[in-house]
Amino acid sequence: MYEIYDASYQVFLENWEVNRQVALDFMQQYLKPQPPQVAVLSVGAGPGDFDVQVIRTLKQQLAKELTLRYVAVEPNHLHRQRYEQKINVPEFADVDLKLYSEKIDQFQTDEQFDIIHYTHSMYHMPGQEKWLVQQAIEMLKNNGFLIITLDTIDAVIFDTIFKYAALTGQGFTEMLQMQEMQAIVEGLGLSYTLESYPEYIDVKLCFEENSPAGKLLMDFFCQADSGQLSPEQRQEILQILASKVIEQDGRKLVPVPAATMVIPKQG
Ligand SMILES: C[S@@+](CC[C@H](N)C(=O)[O-])C[C@H]1O[C@@H](n2cnc3c(N)ncnc32)[C@H](O)[C@@H]1O
Repeated sequence: MYEIYDASYQVFLENWEVNRQVALDFMQQYLKPQPPQVAVLSVGAGPGDFDVQVIRTLKQQLAKELTLRYVAVEPNHLHRQRYEQKINVPEFADVDLKLYSEKIDQFQTDEQFDIIHYTHSMYHMPGQEKWLVQQAIEMLKNNGFLIITLDTIDAVIFDTIFKYAALTGQGFTEMLQMQEMQAIVEGLGLSYTLESYPEYIDVKLCFEENSPAGKLLMDFFCQADSGQLSPEQRQEILQILASKVIEQDGRKLVPVPAATMVIPKQG
């Protein structure tokens, strides 16, 4: 399970036209650093590609007398291995890093954070969203903020995930997207700022017959083992992708728009 997800996530990352800048800009804009330390919690940190960018951005912003504490929670051991390789480097020698293996509902700490971010991770915590937002707000310092990034409802991946479930009776029949998250946060009476933006995935590999990487990318679009699909069922999933493809410079891009939400502790 963790093995399949790790392999398919790597292929996905290589083909994802991602916009990380909106979340990075929000972090810089909302952060009110107070000596002696800025503390960040990354939930569902994955293999660390984004966290490396966050650490670099914050290190540039912080005055010399401030130290950066960076805590990450990531239950997938293969993601953690990749994470450690990226993070344990001389460039980050002055950062106080800690990587935990628990799922977030098992994670306990007395620490207080300036930033808590759930970057494309809250999909995987169904039914816990409301409680996790409340818990995060409690774990923030008074000037802190929670930042959540998710795909929006019009992202093609939701169509392929639900099609897989309809075809096989397995996989996911529901998955969180940003509009649902907004409703949850509004239901809690919290104020937030939201920015939406386009992102794309190049799905060219999915259309290549007998391509191991194409199979892994299809796994990602199904959030399940696409090897369970019959050839006809596979064609149905490919049809969904084909209907959304934008051809550009030899790439086959499908839209997976996303949005980033900032919830300050003091609304
Ligand atoms: C789509 S990846 C996002 C990785 C990274 N934040 C990024 O933006 O590239 C979602 C991550 O959430 C992790 N995850 C899933 N369930 C979790 C849970 N209950 N607690 C913490 N992390 C979880 C997965 O292992 C995976 O690494």
